[in-house]
Amino acid sequence: MQFVQAGALRRHWYPVAETEDVAPGPVKVTLLGEDLVLYRAGGSVVAAPDRGPHREAPLSLGRVEGETLVCAYHGWGFGEDGACVSVPSSGEGAAVPPTAHLPCVHVRERYGLVWVALEEPVDDLPVVAHDEDPAFRRINTGVEVWAVSATRMVDNFLDISHFPWVHTGTFGAGQATEVPKIDLEELDNGWYGYAYEVDANNPDEATATSGSDEDVVHRWMSTGFVLPLTVRSTIRYADGLEHILLLCSTPIDDVTSYFTFVVWRNDDFSVDAQEVVSFDRAIGAEDKAMLEQVPGSLPLGRTDLVSVQSDKPSVEWRRRFLELVEAD
Ligand code: FES
Ligand SMILES: [Fe+2]
Repeated sequence: MQFVQAGALRRHWYPVAETEDVAPGPVKVTLLGEDLVLYRAGGSVVAAPDRGPHREAPLSLGRVEGETLVCAYHGWGFGEDGACVSVPSSGEGAAVPPTAHLPCVHVRERYGLVWVALEEPVDDLPVVAHDEDPAFRRINTGVEVWAVSATRMVDNFLDISHFPWVHTGTFGAGQATEVPKIDLEELDNGWYGYAYEVDANNPDEATATSGSDEDVVHRWMSTGFVLPLTVRSTIRYADGLEHILLLCSTPIDDVTSYFTFVVWRNDDFSVDAQEVVSFDRAIGAEDKAMLEQVPGSLPLGRTDLVSVQSDKPSVEWRRRFLELVEAD
């Protein structure tokens, strides 16, 4: 079975776009194999199947006029909460059929992202407490499509043993290959993972991010996940600079995903935001290049893959994710 068909996954939140992508829309996105349209009406984003209730034309082919999404096929209009507000062929002021309203899915905007749950969500959005802290600024980086299973992305984001092998063009070349013993623990706000320390190469391209011009910088880090597919990494440097990464993997289908990351930093806000994240982008591109060579989704069974002690975090995530997927 494809993991995206698991009913339990429909009851969780996934970021599918950035807030600024839906101003006002319409935007077509795909989540767990379902095509959705996003548009803005009455100040809020509406998310609904990308299929008009009249003759099933993709609503994302339409246009937003004022507060109304106008379908491209016969011009039916949809407003706030997906309410059908006009049927041009019936004439001005005619009642609309009660079944003409869009069967909207759950949508929220937070951290500069539009989050969607296809069915009544069983939990809240992942919490990044730094978002409330005025000492930190938030930087959004855009949404990319990766030809990679979201399961392989999470496995990768929880893994530090690939750093000196994959990240040779950025921070990893020549750094320690041995991973110290990992102790998993509850972190804050529902994140589960581990704390560790690494030395990272600090080339010229990285100095805007690290705030240091040493050749190698020491980082105190933590990496953790919340189910189903969200990872957070925190980085602290010796001078107190903190750099928080929210790494989001959203399944378009079993083997294709949206990737976006959000950064929070307690720097002095003087360095250009895009310059700050350009080193992180280069790191992400190294992961993407590797992962796009690995076909299929991650085998989830306990004995499906060979794992060693450095895989402990991803093995634990995989165990919990499998339990979730098998819950129905
Ligand atoms: S299919 Fe959209 S108005 Fe007819
Ligand atoms: Fe990586």
